[in-house]
Amino acid sequence: MTRGKKIAINTGGGDAPGLNAVIEAVVMASSKLGWEVYGIKNGYGGLLNTNEIVRLTPETVRGISSLGGTILGTTNKGNPFQMSITNLAGETEIRDVSDKVVENFKLLGFDCLIAVGGDGSLKIAYDFYKKGIPVVGVPKTIDNDLGGTVITFGFDTAVSIATEAIDRLHSTARSHDRVMVVEVMGRHAGWIALNSGLSGGADVILIPEIPFDIEKVCKHIMENELHGRHYGIVVVGEGTTPIGGVEMARGKGEAGRQELVLGGIGEYVAKEISKRTGKDTRSLVLGHLQRGGSPTTFDRLVSLRFGAAAVRMIEEQNFGIMVALDPPEVKGVPLEEVIGKIRKVPLDSDSLRTARDIGICLGD
Ligand code: F6P
Repeated sequence: MTRGKKIAINTGGGDAPGLNAVIEAVVMASSKLGWEVYGIKNGYGGLLNTNEIVRLTPETVRGISSLGGTILGTTNKGNPFQMSITNLAGETEIRDVSDKVVENFKLLGFDCLIAVGGDGSLKIAYDFYKKGIPVVGVPKTIDNDLGGTVITFGFDTAVSIATEAIDRLHSTARSHDRVMVVEVMGRHAGWIALNSGLSGGADVILIPEIPFDIEKVCKHIMENELHGRHYGIVVVGEGTTPIGGVEMARGKGEAGRQELVLGGIGEYVAKEISKRTGKDTRSLVLGHLQRGGSPTTFDRLVSLRFGAAAVRMIEEQNFGIMVALDPPEVKGVPLEEVIGKIRKVPLDSDSLRTARDIGICLGD
């Protein structure tokens, strides 16, 4: 009798609503095939410290689809190919510990790895695939900026939370005749800003794909004033820049992190509007509220479909791929085709046209 497969699953990068639904689907679908699933805690950390591997059974995962976060923990500073390690002298050095991960993966008898992550985590997964680990990737990120799939899970929840926040700002902004500037996440792509700004009835939406002219933004606000609308809502994606400017960042973040922590553009835009129009202006940063809590129905469904599809890919021995939504199907696309290809909002997209058609200022 052939033994059933032994699957490892990890979650990497920033968390996103739907991670637990992927885990639940992977475990339930694998269990039907008589396979075992093990969760690697904290990205690849669990494979460097074997105490951090947990057996996942239908009993332990049933019902977790509705929970936010990830029961496995995650990290965005745990790249085994460039691990930040503090030596005995207290100095931090960057080491490649990927061989150790591969060795432990084999020692533990795993047949394959399901890596659930965004661009950075999938790049690491692809590098492990090139080192001989059979890998299936699952696209996760609230930013919706991965190529090869029409949507990533987590995005719909983030947009819903941002839209609800914008809805709430209308009444307070109107009461005070104020301009409220909301900075939303999304890194170098404007998907969250555009979709929540449109749904939430923003007056101005600023996205990284369209560097803005602050004069045009202020002109739009003052024109509204002339037409009797004395308040305004401005939604700005965190990676947005003024024309000729650069992305604003809060710093590099913690040691071992590869990317800048973006932020500050909302505050900048609010100050400029206040200075140039004399309007009472406030800014707020929605931040991690966009990643917290229960996934929407849409995200749960996509996540469950991605998880089940990942198991089907393993059954078909289809490795080095990422599951992707290509409506109405979920299919596999080669990881090498999606890695490093950030998917931005196309300038001719229907949503951008809609924004212009209904009189929203895009800062250009
Ligand atoms: O990639 C997801 C994301 O939430 C981005 O939108 C944001 O820039 C970043 O992660 C924040 O990272 P952290 O959780 O490390 O602050």
